[in-house]
Amino acid sequence: MDIRDKVVVVTGGAQGIGFAIAERFAKAGAKLVLGDIKQDVLDEAKQKLSATGAKVHAVVCNVSKEEDAERLMQAAVDEFGRLDVAVLNAGILRDGLLLKLDKETGKVKRKMSLEQWQMVIDVNLTGVFLTGREAAVRMAELGNGGAIVMMSSIAAEGNFGQTNYSATKAGVRAMAVTWSRELARYGVRVAAVAPGFIGTPMVKKDMKAEALEKLLKMVPAGRLGEPDEVAHTCQFIVENDFITGVTLGVTGGMKL
Ligand SMILES: NC(=O)c1ccc[n+]([C@@H]2O[C@H](COP(=O)([O-])OP(=O)(O)OC[C@H]3O[C@@H](n4cnc5c(N)ncnc54)[C@H](O)[C@@H]3O)[C@@H](O)[C@H]2O)c1
Repeated sequence: MDIRDKVVVVTGGAQGIGFAIAERFAKAGAKLVLGDIKQDVLDEAKQKLSATGAKVHAVVCNVSKEEDAERLMQAAVDEFGRLDVAVLNAGILRDGLLLKLDKETGKVKRKMSLEQWQMVIDVNLTGVFLTGREAAVRMAELGNGGAIVMMSSIAAEGNFGQTNYSATKAGVRAMAVTWSRELARYGVRVAAVAPGFIGTPMVKKDMKAEALEKLLKMVPAGRLGEPDEVAHTCQFIVENDFITGVTLGVTGGMKL
């Protein structure tokens, strides 16, 4: 797909990897619709991108709400008349162990709460389902085909302290395969990207410094990835018409 003049929706597009994706597609000549739950950061992102001459529309939304997912994807059609690419990037972490025993009593003193589980499922899995479905509905009806790129993670393999997160990211990988088969007849390709550890607010603020140091020792490249390296992979997927039904790792060689 030639990205120039295409309409690209990015969820969680206000900061981090999502913003890097929006920047990259804007530079390649796309019109952008950014969806994010954080109004202030979203306004800032829109301003930054508009200053480069890009056409940008911003929608405050919660991807885990059905009416918000519909409103976000419809905004692309209402604002720019088409919808060619949806990058389903919004995601959250709520890490914790399944359980922790108290050494003295031998009894469980902490468990991953249902709330901790449900919040991550709602955003990372239901959010991807709803926004992906609504993007696909419009792409199929408009008849121009399209590409859906979703954000999985290296944690899809299973990761210590990430029962909830790993389950959602494995689910995303499965959805990419399922949808690539179901939507091919409408000319819609679907793939996922599985980043390793990328230097964004999610990693820098939410992860403990010791945990991060330990993790870096497991990365053959010896560093965190750059958000633009993930964005570059999304661009590659969109531009290459023979890529569908796969998850591409961007991990610096790291394996869990
Ligand atoms: N940073 C990493 O190392 C890394 C690694 C693997 C996968 N990922 C995945 O990449 C994606 C982006 O991660 P990031 O590091 O840029 O995170 P981030 O926290 O910097 O950005 C996430 C964005 O999503 C938005 N968001 C959160 N919940 C939302 C909701 N319900 N509705 C709409 N928007 C919402 C946030 O406001 C934020 O702007 C996530 O799906 C994450 O799981 C990140």
